Amino acid sequence: MSICYDQLVPVVFGEGAVHELGEKVRALGCRRVLCVYGQSVKASGIAQKALNALQNAGIETVIFDKVSGEPDDQLVDECGALALAESVDGVVGIGGGSSMDCAKAASLLLKYPAPIRQYFTAPPSFLEAPVPVILVPTTAGTGSEVTQVSVITKLPEHHKPAIFMRPALAVVDPELTYSSPASVTAYAGFDAFAHAAESITAKGRNERSELLAMAAIEKIAVYLPRVLKDPMDKEARHHLSLASNWAGIAFADTDCHLGHAMADGLSAGCGTPHGLNCIWINPELMAECAIYIPEEVKKIGLALGGSYRGDESAQEIGEITAGYIRDLMEKCQLPTPSEKGITSEQMQSCAATVMEIDLGLRLNCPFEATEEIVRQIYRKSFERLQNSRVDSI
Ligand SMILES: [Fe+2]
Repeated sequence: MSICYDQLVPVVFGEGAVHELGEKVRALGCRRVLCVYGQSVKASGIAQKALNALQNAGIETVIFDKVSGEPDDQLVDECGALALAESVDGVVGIGGGSSMDCAKAASLLLKYPAPIRQYFTAPPSFLEAPVPVILVPTTAGTGSEVTQVSVITKLPEHHKPAIFMRPALAVVDPELTYSSPASVTAYAGFDAFAHAAESITAKGRNERSELLAMAAIEKIAVYLPRVLKDPMDKEARHHLSLASNWAGIAFADTDCHLGHAMADGLSAGCGTPHGLNCIWINPELMAECAIYIPEEVKKIGLALGGSYRGDESAQEIGEITAGYIRDLMEKCQLPTPSEKGITSEQMQSCAATVMEIDLGLRLNCPFEATEEIVRQIYRKSFERLQNSRVDSI
């Protein structure tokens, strides 16, 4: 059977890259762009840096600065209506996954009639971006700048379906992540870890994605704890930005699987942050995957710096790898579900939601993800996390 891999989105990477944003946007033929971001990006001064770079290159800017938290379909409709009213010829998303996903989806409304909710698709089918979409991440985690996926919260259900389109360019400047608070840095870092781990174990896995995903995990294992100790550790910030970007490129080809469906279930049922949801269930998910694809799961443990004797059973490989993942979580002092006010029963009840949404993600899982297995993974995750450390960030 053949495999398919691609570099979906070209990347400009490096400290100070944001200053090249104007020239790059101009080279794409844009003269009047909609800049999409939120109040925290504005307050940090990052938005102004991007606006200066655009304006210095003679690009007119229209501002939509209302992104706060994960975007819903109503916000995307409002953002798209502004793009239409202002006749922009490009869209620039500046921020974490929320701003970038909002920019990606809103750009489509320059061609496709509103509302955006009619374009949620499963299985994925690409919509053609009518103008260049340029993405500038300010966190190291989502990888949204290099993927086709735009996750939008569908109201009133709070489900998270996706829209699929191809951005034109990613401008990744590690300096823009220096001001990320500890919790944002940690959750984003573990989101990137989950992208990598799920890419390695997805049904749609391929060898190029595996290479990038393993390199991403190696970097996260070393540099995420370092950044959490010293937020101004520039070398560590550099490597985390690379890791996030590479994990994004990895899963752009393979897609994620059950872990992201279960994270979406927790977001809808408990309202907890995406990256935290992803990592809460990741060790138990990987332990379950090991029963079916132990050699793939072992690669995650090796990338984390772990070792294996070589004669372990599939189940032992799963338990050992889950242990290495938990070690990294403990180093980063993540909060437990009960510290976030969530009970085991609440967590397990999200299994029903998982079965209603994200069919594509579930089908990409290396084992059949029945409601009973999903419920068990939630239950085991809750119990293991309860018995782990305290003193969270
Ligand atoms: Fe994610």
